[in-house]
Amino acid sequence: MTNATDLLPRLTSLLGPAAVITQGADLEPYAIDWRRLFPGKPACVVRPSSVEQVARIVQICREAGAAIVPQGGNTGLAGGAVPDASGTQVVLSLNRMAAIRSVDPVGLTIEAEAGCILKVAQDAAGAAGRLLPISLAAEGSATIGGVIAANAGGVNVLRYGMTRSLVLGLEVVLPDGTIVHGLRKLRKDNAGYDWKQFFIGSEGTLGIVTAAVLRLLPRPKHSVTALLSVADPAAALRLLELAQDELGDQISAFELISATSMQLVAKHAGLKAPIAEGEWFVLIEAASSLAGLREAAETMLGAAFEKGMALDGVIAESGAQASQLWALREHVTESEAREGKSVKHDVSVPLTEVPRFLIEAGEALAAGAPGTRVNAFGHLGDGNIHYNVLVDERHDASHVNRIVHDVVAAFGGSISAEHGIGQYRVGELARYRAAPEMDLARTIKRALDPDNRLNPGKVLSA
Ligand code: FAD
Ligand code: MLT
Ligand code: ZN
Repeated sequence: MTNATDLLPRLTSLLGPAAVITQGADLEPYAIDWRRLFPGKPACVVRPSSVEQVARIVQICREAGAAIVPQGGNTGLAGGAVPDASGTQVVLSLNRMAAIRSVDPVGLTIEAEAGCILKVAQDAAGAAGRLLPISLAAEGSATIGGVIAANAGGVNVLRYGMTRSLVLGLEVVLPDGTIVHGLRKLRKDNAGYDWKQFFIGSEGTLGIVTAAVLRLLPRPKHSVTALLSVADPAAALRLLELAQDELGDQISAFELISATSMQLVAKHAGLKAPIAEGEWFVLIEAASSLAGLREAAETMLGAAFEKGMALDGVIAESGAQASQLWALREHVTESEAREGKSVKHDVSVPLTEVPRFLIEAGEALAAGAPGTRVNAFGHLGDGNIHYNVLVDERHDASHVNRIVHDVVAAFGGSISAEHGIGQYRVGELARYRAAPEMDLARTIKRALDPDNRLNPGKVLSA
């Protein structure tokens, strides 16, 4: 049996000194989250290079009674990947396990290690003429393991589903150090419980994902991107219905952007929409391998103008122009962070309730937290709005949370559509999820991690 004082020497002898960071500037990027809301103090950061090393680290930490915080690209928005301030938790970074092991363009699979950057995996699929349809603004830093552990959403969910729908196989290290090999490439596999689902979206609290097999799709040959201004979210929803009628399942993104989001992007990223100013904007992307997509999109937009659903708009003439339109959407989060303090709400409500939700949440905030500004944007096609509230020192974040989440609950919505609970929403989850659901979650956690050694205090209170 080891004790806490043996921890560092044992980890160092396993991994070598270069793979164990204990102090100095090198430690900082692993210790604080992307939003800089949750500064932690790791006992150390370990950077294994194989699943066997991950398993040994877990055993050593277990013997020393140390908790482990798995970390990928550390782009999470809920403080799930950083340690607490006790100085006792070990951050286990997967960033040295980044290989792409195979891309199969016929079987439509990619196998990658957990630390592989999402963009690198997208590009590898693209080079083989295939599509890995997980796409989010943090894709240049987020990792395959992090995306799986968070069950990330992003801009393509309305067509391809959340990350969960793309995971075929997983390799996981359990909290007792057992390696579970499940890197199967099967489309159909009903042999027993589908245990991998426990780990997808569990935010590093049930196991450490070390490698995965993801499903690819044929890459559509044509795509069309358009930015439109609309009078209000209700008009945006009518536009979605029209787009579904005219473009069917070719719609791959349908994003809502408020005037406030556009103003923040203009102010902090220097990017400006190439259409007349308006209160609300919709960014639509459709993709297909069949000819005639652009004509269909033009017909759809013509009808939208005729029916008064869209006020102004532009269709990208080239890939470069499409990227410029997407840059407006992709810079919202970063621009919001530059503006100052914000209280984030990553909520979903039934799709048709989005316009009413936006009105009622706005009214509730005006009454209960005067002086706040709403920066609303997000994945309208999924009923997922990032309802972020810009605040100053007068405003209390929990009070703002309560106002917004009470409205979400009244609409039968979720307090986290895609970013997860992390440490940011632990109290809110316990408040808004019914006791039997919370009990079930604790039963699962106890079964897999009875000593609460894996990411304690995240998702469920410690
Ligand atoms: P991390 O932040 O390192 O970790 C996230 C969680 O997973 C933590 O709880 C961590 O402990 C756990 N974890 C990480 N790796 C592993 C592993 N190998 N095994 C077990 N647990 C692990 N998210 C969306 O869903 N949709 C968006 O559109 C979106 N846009 C974003 C835009 C910006 C600008 C930013 C900064 C973030 C955005 N995010 C979005 C949030 C974030 O990028 C995603 O949640 C992403 O999946 C996190 O990946 P990561 O590798 O950075 O994970
Ligand atoms: C996005 O969709 O850009 C992020 O998930 C949102 C956020 O910053 O709240
Ligand atoms: Zn999002």
